[in-house]
Amino acid sequence: MAAIVALLWCTLFTFSASPLGYALSLNYYDQTCPQAESTITDAVKKAVINDNTVPSALLRMHFHDCFIRGCDASVLLNSVGKNTAEKDGPPNISLHAFHVIDNAKKEVEALCPGVVSCADILALAARDAVVLSGGPTWEVPKGRKDGRISKASETKQLPSPTFSISQLQQSFSQRGLSMEDLVALSGGHTLGFSHCSSFQNRIHNFNTTHDVDPSMHPSFAASLKSVCPAQNKAKNAGTTMDSSSTTFDTTYYKLLLQGKSLFSSDQALLTNTKTQGLVSKFASSHEAFTMAFVKSMIKMSSLTGGQEVRLDCRVVN
Ligand code: HEM
Ligand SMILES: *[C@@H]1O[C@H](CO)[C@@H](O)[C@H](O)[C@H]1NC(C)=O
Ligand SMILES: *[C@@H]1O[C@H](CO)[C@@H](O)[C@H](O)[C@H]1NC(C)=O
Repeated sequence: MAAIVALLWCTLFTFSASPLGYALSLNYYDQTCPQAESTITDAVKKAVINDNTVPSALLRMHFHDCFIRGCDASVLLNSVGKNTAEKDGPPNISLHAFHVIDNAKKEVEALCPGVVSCADILALAARDAVVLSGGPTWEVPKGRKDGRISKASETKQLPSPTFSISQLQQSFSQRGLSMEDLVALSGGHTLGFSHCSSFQNRIHNFNTTHDVDPSMHPSFAASLKSVCPAQNKAKNAGTTMDSSSTTFDTTYYKLLLQGKSLFSSDQALLTNTKTQGLVSKFASSHEAFTMAFVKSMIKMSSLTGGQEVRLDCRVVN
């Protein structure tokens, strides 16, 4: 009986996926830094006023953080000496807004020195980014620790935009995430911008029989080709992730069903009956999408890993 109660308690009130076995909690800073969350929210708000690309950058940064060594702020560390850090590794294209986390950390440190981890600040900032874009809000479990290791070579472990459904499934399941998590979290592609290189494979030399991915809507493919020619030289060329790319909505799923998604990994969600069903469900129900997104964000952001509370988010203690 006690074991059943303990098990229930754990599933209801803790969010532990940590190899070190520590649990996250909603009230983690209630005694030690009660103003932490509002201070972080203010810092994110201030940054968004000046730069509307900040929300998408924070959301993607949190995803990249969690997929490598758990959500331990390894993505924030700078390269040191011969060690090239994740942020300087290959798929770092478009990772930015590190200064937003630095500013939030500085303000939180002034209130409660050495208490709030960079990993928690990033998780909270990602939630705030979604809210500020018109998306759902949720309570973020806290108590993550910051890691001491960040290696560019490990960014190979991130899913690639050319992945098939089975590769995506494998990447997510290795982290305890399901097909439903995959479809819901791919909805993050309702925000932001992509560079040409991320979808080049679909619009030039797709395979030996098709220049363009035949699953892509022809006029959509044509407009992408005009922005991204085969020998693209413009480093900043690309396009918004969907047609309402600063608003957190279901447009990504609606366009996906019309053959107007950017990545092979987006299109891949239609190649499996289960994931295709979820795409249709999320396209037609804002509520179903936001409920699933929140649940999956909490799951992804509870993959913990670190062991210290860094004083400077860019440097280990
Ligand atoms: C399913 C596997 C995923 C793949 C293969 C993938 C791939 C990519 C790629 C290639 C880009 C464009 C980068 C560029 O060209 O600048 C991108 C952008 C983005 N991704 Fe994903 N992603 C995945 C999952 C996620 C998840 C789980 C989230 C968050 C919940 C997310 C949020 C974003 C956001 C917000 C952007 C826009 C970034 C910006 O505007 O700076 N992605 N993704
Ligand atoms: C991405 O990596 C390159 C080196 O490969 C580096 O020069 C650049 O500053 C990195 N971008 C960010 C945002 O850290
Ligand atoms: C090229 O891709 C299309 C669509 O995915 C497929 O039907 C065709 O068999 C592919 N061709 C080759 C040679 O792989």
